[in-house]
Amino acid sequence: MSLNRLYQDAPLLTLKPMSIAALTLRPVVDCFITRGHEQYGREAVTQLQHALQCATYAESAGESSTLVAACLLHDVGHLLHDLGEDAAERGLDDRHEYRALPFLSALFPAAVTEPIRLHVNAKRYLCATQEDYWAELSNASKLSLELQGGIFSEAEAMAFINQPHAKDAVQLRIWDDLAKDPAQKTPNFEHFLPTLVDCLVPSTRLGF
Ligand SMILES: [Fe+2]
Ligand SMILES: [Fe+2]
Repeated sequence: MSLNRLYQDAPLLTLKPMSIAALTLRPVVDCFITRGHEQYGREAVTQLQHALQCATYAESAGESSTLVAACLLHDVGHLLHDLGEDAAERGLDDRHEYRALPFLSALFPAAVTEPIRLHVNAKRYLCATQEDYWAELSNASKLSLELQGGIFSEAEAMAFINQPHAKDAVQLRIWDDLAKDPAQKTPNFEHFLPTLVDCLVPSTRLGF
């Protein structure tokens, strides 16, 4: 069933349980419907392509539903502001890792929201701990790194990685860096809907 038909045509009382649960995801889905076509920073992919590629890496690796969902949703915060693709070039940190948390936290557990919250700091961690990681970042990513606080010190890196969900954030970040290939084929957004539904916190499942 297409997303539009799911939302517009199906009477609520006749929806199957999966579809009812999916309705609670509407604010998330709407972000991609309305703004998924926007360019992902200065990269040659759209926001939706970037999200799908990142989630596909996680799914192909056999990762948990929560990490697949985190990969899919990690940059929703970019879709919640109008600072423009050149925000970093104008000296602005869009703080996108935090922007979606108020509404994502009402839908998903920490295993989804914490890797999202931590994925920017995961870049600071990887720069501090992996040789050549900084050198291989795009110029846009190097610029935003400075606005985001720069490379972690050794002590900061240690404190970071010992937080719950930090290792998932680092893995997300590695796929995040790869998910910029305009030629990469992925499943569409609807393919990941059951994964998102699977991750919903019980209070959003309307009696599940
Ligand atoms: Fe991001
Ligand atoms: Fe990203």
